[in-house]
Amino acid sequence: MIIKVLTLFPEVLEPYFKGSMIGRAQSKNAVKIETMNIRDFSLDKHNSVDDYPFGGGGGMIMTPQPIVSAHQAAVKKCNTDKEIRTIYCTPKGKTLNQCIAKELSEEKHIIILCGHYEGVDQRAIDTVTTDEISIGDYVLTGGELPAAVIVDSVVRLLPDVLDSKKRYEEESFFNGMLEYPQYTRPREYLGQKVPNVLLSGDHSKINKWRHFQSLKETWLKRPDLLNGINMTEEEKQFIKKLRENPNEETDC
Ligand code: ADE
Repeated sequence: MIIKVLTLFPEVLEPYFKGSMIGRAQSKNAVKIETMNIRDFSLDKHNSVDDYPFGGGGGMIMTPQPIVSAHQAAVKKCNTDKEIRTIYCTPKGKTLNQCIAKELSEEKHIIILCGHYEGVDQRAIDTVTTDEISIGDYVLTGGELPAAVIVDSVVRLLPDVLDSKKRYEEESFFNGMLEYPQYTRPREYLGQKVPNVLLSGDHSKINKWRHFQSLKETWLKRPDLLNGINMTEEEKQFIKKLRENPNEETDC
């Protein structure tokens, strides 16, 4: 996969893309991420990239030319005839979720546009973007953090980035539920014991326990995720018990 990020602040993003899991994914050639500085594409003699808003009001607006030129250069570098998904990071966009991340992880190329100052000239957005994505109902100073969040959520889903496929298939949101609780050594910590079933070596029992713990976590913390889910009789009974006594140890 190839990801190009158009930004006025590449220095903010680069350390993140070089480090940790994203850096490792790049060294394994699962993804190639390039930041492109929008300012480098300004045709203005002072290299300016923003101007006052028509109609008045405070703040500066990013001008369309450097963005459109940076986008054209990014598209050219991708060397494909296909339209490239170009995501504009904005609080007006669709809220990012695991389903969107999965869908984006299946693209060969993605371009991400980070806005800054008080906004981006609408004509630039209309010219280059195919998708608008928000990372939540709050306003940040720019699109760099949202771009890093999008890249991270997408790249970890690429083949061979996590240690095994199993890893993300079991985690929160993959099957529409939150992940079950996890434990490691020691077997007892501050008087709290690891649940016996996890020490039993009986994998079908463990899988069943994990499934019902996922259901419990979801019911307690994000009941909205269970709307419209068809439950088995056993799952319904489990929820009924939880409803009667949410604090009771539930064995399933
Ligand atoms: N730019 C500023 N705030 C944002 C948000 N919440 N999501 C995506 N892009 C943004």
